Amino acid sequence: MFTAYRDIFQKRGHLYHQAMTLYPQARTEEFHHVVRMADLKDGEIVCDVPSGGGYLRNFVDRTLSFIHLETSEVFADLCRDNGASNVLLGTLEDIPVETGSVDKVISLAALHHVDEKERFFSEACRILRQGGTFTIADVRAQSAVSEFLDGFVNEHNTMGHKGNYIHAKTQEEIAGCGFVIMESPLIPFHWEFDSPQAMGGFCQMLFGVDKADSAQVVEGIRKHVGYSVERNACRMNWELLFMKAKKR
Ligand SMILES: C[S@@+](CC[C@H](N)C(=O)[O-])C[C@H]1O[C@@H](n2cnc3c(N)ncnc32)[C@H](O)[C@@H]1O
Repeated sequence: MFTAYRDIFQKRGHLYHQAMTLYPQARTEEFHHVVRMADLKDGEIVCDVPSGGGYLRNFVDRTLSFIHLETSEVFADLCRDNGASNVLLGTLEDIPVETGSVDKVISLAALHHVDEKERFFSEACRILRQGGTFTIADVRAQSAVSEFLDGFVNEHNTMGHKGNYIHAKTQEEIAGCGFVIMESPLIPFHWEFDSPQAMGGFCQMLFGVDKADSAQVVEGIRKHVGYSVERNACRMNWELLFMKAKKR
């Protein structure tokens, strides 16, 4: 299953990156939530895993040493093209980083692609120094977002979409891998655009929707998660479960 999803991002990583490049501010609120929760301090070593095209560092106003870990060559190359240094290619269950060498690990919007999450949690714990923190944000099981992804996106993406979403037991799994859970809020927020058309185009690219046009994507969004339009802003409803855990 690890390979299957890596293959999917080998195929649609470019499109995902195109969405993130054309609409760099769309997910600002989401990045700000994860950065605030990680409580980054100047001089820290932060591992962004998996980093995609290295978007997180654009939302950080601290002087940090980033390690960008990617599992797909496509994203690793895009991450380097995006100006990120220290980009490593590896797997989530075998991160090529020294034991106890990192202050913070951040993982945004990836966990629902991972079946054997505990192997990843153990690796995150291994690379962290004692007292270092692991901040995760991902889609909660049986939420409007998971239903949008496994419903609308699954039906309109040739490669399909089937997530292994996070739930209450995920916290126990994290704790069992050497962590103490510090907080785990469910946070609703928005993705922001100039217009519904821009929102439809962004989601079409981000989720690799190739069996619906952007107007149909807008309708899918309306039906599953909802959006509002006010003056020149279109705000799409989104929600993730954020979890912060400290290495024991
Ligand atoms: C949706 S992107 C998230 C990238 C970035 N963190 C962001 O928020 O935009 C998902 C990432 O997970 C990686 N990925 C997906 N499934 C994986 C798996 N089963 N094992 C390892 N990496 C995976 C992909 O390479 C990709 O970088």
